[in-house]
Amino acid sequence: ANAPVNITVTGAAGNIGYALLFRIASGALLGPDQRVNLRLLEIPQAVKAAEGTAMELFDSAFSTLGSVDIFDDPKQAFEGANIAFLVGSMPRRAGMERSDLLSANGGIFGPQGEALAAGAADDIKVLVVGNPANTNALIAASHAGDIPASRFTAMTRLDHNRALAQLAAKAGCHVSDIDKVAIWGNHSSTQYPDLTHATIKGEPITDILADREWVENDFIPTVAKRGAAIIEARGASSAASAASAAIDHVRDWCLGTTSAWTSAAVMSDGSYGVPEGVISSFPCTAENGEWKIVQGLEIDDFSRAKIDASAAELVDEKNAVAGMGLI
Ligand code: NAI
Repeated sequence: ANAPVNITVTGAAGNIGYALLFRIASGALLGPDQRVNLRLLEIPQAVKAAEGTAMELFDSAFSTLGSVDIFDDPKQAFEGANIAFLVGSMPRRAGMERSDLLSANGGIFGPQGEALAAGAADDIKVLVVGNPANTNALIAASHAGDIPASRFTAMTRLDHNRALAQLAAKAGCHVSDIDKVAIWGNHSSTQYPDLTHATIKGEPITDILADREWVENDFIPTVAKRGAAIIEARGASSAASAASAAIDHVRDWCLGTTSAWTSAAVMSDGSYGVPEGVISSFPCTAENGEWKIVQGLEIDDFSRAKIDASAAELVDEKNAVAGMGLI
């Protein structure tokens, strides 16, 4: 058998953590033959709740679960980590100033980047889920010393999956019939869910794309505002679907993508005019543990404007954290 893979999950006692840990432990991430050791990081006040989750993991008697350890110190939690899910963060709350939001997250993701650099395994792969995810990932990457920036990613897979589901419902097909949907930019309301290249059973979706009313005034805002719609309906933010998307992202990263491409927020190399040095969503493939931005796609004027607007927001966030000395 392979050596166990060490997986650190921050925000482990939160809602997403509760859904995510059981999927990882059950083999949904790396398959039925790979044992995983879980390392949970929480703030001191939530360690007791994390211990409760650890009791339930123990009681599940998963054949793929090695050990569960709980920490309130990032240095210890990231020791030997091969994979890190950074879920715990300070998301925006009503009335919060942007500077407060960014400095609170700088205080979380800067030290976590340093702790990763100090102790994580050489093959460390980091997925940031906690919002503002793209900029939090940038902060962590900029504190992570020798770890290549390509190992820091942010999650737009939930947006991608939401786009697949909306298109399948519109077309009356199954989500698995769809390929080549892309999310561009920031995981925020400026994100651009792009159907231009989408196919159903390999065929272009010409008729659906011609329905600009649906694409522009229904599909795009529905995907971009789905998080708020879930909060409105559930009385709590999306957790199981977010955890499922996090599994999809890291599984594809480790084992390779199986469709033409998926969506992931990775360090921009300037592709498609997205400025270098921001962590932006692109259509990506993964092979041998590395993400690659899909090249050579034609970008029409509508897409150009949407991609530019979201990239501008990312640059704005980057400049703000740079101005505060957080990167
Ligand atoms: P939650 O509030 O239920 O849990 C967050 C947990 O993080 C709490 O247990 C808290 O104690 C912990 N935490 C806070 N600071 C920490 C630190 N410095 N170190 C370790 N743990 C820390 O929130 P939930 O619902 O689990 O969501 C987590 C994050 O994921 C939020 O920022 C949310 O906005 C974001 N999110 C991102 C999505 C995406 O698509 N990228 C989708 C859905 C949520």
